[in-house]
Amino acid sequence: MIGPSRGRAPPDVGSIIILVSPDQSRISRRTLLRSGGLAVLGTALVGCAPDAPAPVVTDDAEVSRVPPEGERQAGIASPSAVQSQLLVAVFDLDGEAAPLLAAVGETIVALASGRHPGLAGIEPGDLTVTVGVGHRLASAVLPDGPGSAALDAYPREDVDERHRHGDVVVQICASDPLVPPLAMTALLDDHPALGERWRQRGARGPSVAVRDGHTAPRNVLGFVDGIAAPVTPDELAESVWIPDGPAAGGSIMVVRRMEIDLTTFRRLPIAAQEAVIGRRRDDSAPLSGGDISDDVNLQAKAPDGAYLIPVDAHVRRAHPRPAGVPLMLRRSYSTDDPLGLLFVSYQAELRTFTQTMERMSESDALLDLTTTTAAGAFLALPGFDAQHPLGSTIFGAS
Ligand code: HEM
Repeated sequence: MIGPSRGRAPPDVGSIIILVSPDQSRISRRTLLRSGGLAVLGTALVGCAPDAPAPVVTDDAEVSRVPPEGERQAGIASPSAVQSQLLVAVFDLDGEAAPLLAAVGETIVALASGRHPGLAGIEPGDLTVTVGVGHRLASAVLPDGPGSAALDAYPREDVDERHRHGDVVVQICASDPLVPPLAMTALLDDHPALGERWRQRGARGPSVAVRDGHTAPRNVLGFVDGIAAPVTPDELAESVWIPDGPAAGGSIMVVRRMEIDLTTFRRLPIAAQEAVIGRRRDDSAPLSGGDISDDVNLQAKAPDGAYLIPVDAHVRRAHPRPAGVPLMLRRSYSTDDPLGLLFVSYQAELRTFTQTMERMSESDALLDLTTTTAAGAFLALPGFDAQHPLGSTIFGAS
């Protein structure tokens, strides 16, 4: 809530000064940022005269730090309230993997604790940094092991070779939009052996409740995305975490930057849009009935014999049961340039993604409206701590 202004009038009539006395209401940083708050905050600071009450900006109480160390990397299943901001970048590595990854782990700890000078004193909040390695590095030490296979090309791709594959992927998420770009810059300053291939920012709007504390946001189509997901520790163990071997606790990460032909999608009546997806737009209920928390019923038919979930609806083509795979964990973000989706998924085995993608490529009304412009599969490394540096179970100690 923004308290009433007091003291002198704003010097710039186009700006707002937020002046709050200590006993007045608090304004959350998230509220500031969502309301174009950078301009507001900047003006507030400039407009702060010595005799005026100091502007007060409080931290958002619900944003707490996410421990970077542990059995699994942060940024996959934690935090459960997925952060609103994302920056993903893919790099070539010039040099040895083991020392680089160990040192990257130290940078991550410094960033997440707020100690890294690259954050310029800005509170990291729920910052997570998640690191994966591409097939060239993984196959050198784990031939035929997790992460050793390159991601195939699929229909409806227009991918520059620099935007396919890569040695290292870094996914940075946070609630504060300033944090991911600052953290990425700090990481690159610390590790010049990383040569950038491509990067993409993404954002998520407010989430809706799905089940068991699981929430999911709307994407640029206006549909809630990320409803069907492994949530409980058992579900995550079954479909997301690599169960054993040197990569135990890691996961296979797939990244695809997908432009969406929104002009065509928006011209469709809402019922036709819902037929493309297979769920209703307003309450996200499956077209086969039930509510947002229900699985889609692929067998349900109308009295005329037609399937309630159309044969080429996205949820039918992407559904794990006909593909014969476990449910992947999707952690996608909407993009504005290009307008679309940075699709990110985590799964214990690459075939969970590829078998789904193959079924979608045969006929998926949503896929027909997309063009993928960057793609790669990576071995998201197991968790790390001071005794077990990042990547050490796979590449050995540096
Ligand atoms: C522009 C690209 C995409 C958009 C906008 C999109 C959007 C959606 C939406 C709105 C849903 C329904 C709600 C939900 O369960 O989350 C959904 C479901 C799903 N999508 Fe996508 N998706 C895209 C690409 C992909 C890709 C590339 C894959 C994997 C190959 C995929 C896999 C899935 C899966 C597994 C489901 C759950 C199906 C179920 O079990 O009901 N999606 N997607």
